[in-house]
Amino acid sequence: MYTLGIETSCDETSVSVVRRRKVLSCKTLSSLKLHAKYGGVIPEIASRRHLKFIDKVANQALKEAKININDIGLVAVTQGPGLIGSLLVGICYAKALAFSLKVPILGVNHLWAHLFASFLDKPLVMPFLGLVASGGHTQIYKVSDFDKITLVSKTLDDASGEALDKVGRFYGLGFPAAPQIDRISRRDLVDERLFSFKKTDNLNFSFSGIKTKAVYLHDKLKKQNKLSSKKVCQVLSSFQHSVVDSLINNLTICIKKFKIKSVVCGGGVLANRLLRGRLDKLRRESNLTVCIPEVSYCQDNAACVAGLGEYLYRKGYASKFNFAPLAR
Ligand code: KG4
Ligand code: ZN
Repeated sequence: MYTLGIETSCDETSVSVVRRRKVLSCKTLSSLKLHAKYGGVIPEIASRRHLKFIDKVANQALKEAKININDIGLVAVTQGPGLIGSLLVGICYAKALAFSLKVPILGVNHLWAHLFASFLDKPLVMPFLGLVASGGHTQIYKVSDFDKITLVSKTLDDASGEALDKVGRFYGLGFPAAPQIDRISRRDLVDERLFSFKKTDNLNFSFSGIKTKAVYLHDKLKKQNKLSSKKVCQVLSSFQHSVVDSLINNLTICIKKFKIKSVVCGGGVLANRLLRGRLDKLRRESNLTVCIPEVSYCQDNAACVAGLGEYLYRKGYASKFNFAPLAR
């Protein structure tokens, strides 16, 4: 059975064909560049672009997978969370497709799909602790299976990707700034005292305190005429270090608390070199299984939506045709 996955929760129009967790194609069109001049994703631009290009992207995905549209046995689509207008385009397209092909449809949770990214073309691991770090969310889940998921930690304010994007943008790195911080950051410049946070046993994340500190520091350095490019690099390297430290710190607490031997990560921030390195270190220095997705499956993509949809369908799940988007 071939599963066609559709992801349109934010600014990526993505369609993928998956069979038995093997990715046969994944075509993604990003409208990110169009939003850059506004400093963030403009929902209306994103939805209009999805509407304009979704059919073209779907045809490309079918062509690359070398299958006919009638070979599709299941349509999986992101149900939420995400931007309502963007979700609506993907869901309406998915419903029309499934209806005309007379095949089942399944609405999939975007965050859990991020966790499924580690299982594309790779063996499944269960149970696990799941870390999702993206532009909109930073959470840790206890996952017994993809239909038995408990939230154990979340951010009280900004998401990790959001905090990196906002601070980097404030320091002149444009949008999205997080990948730029990743690119310019230098380990030898990190000053751990700049954005130190109190390590507590509290499982929740909070990034707004260090974000405000970074903003104040910018103004202070500017007044003192000390905002050299090396200084900017030092501040941003230290900020990124602190965000990554916080992710690893909470994950480590959860591992001890819940005594779970496997960790699975997902979301755009997992493309980060420092974070990947720290997770790799955790894997080497412990007897834990740590699954980090391929960089190409970290950011929003339809392959993990198709993969998770196929997995849940095999467990007996399907959506009714009148299911609605869940933006939050
Ligand atoms: O999962 P994703 O593609 O979309 C959401 O569901 O939000 O994540 C996007 C987030 C953005 O904040 C982006 O700046 C961040 O992931 N990101 C990174 C890197 N590449 C993308 N953050 C840190 N380091 C990177 N290399
Ligand atoms: Zn995402």
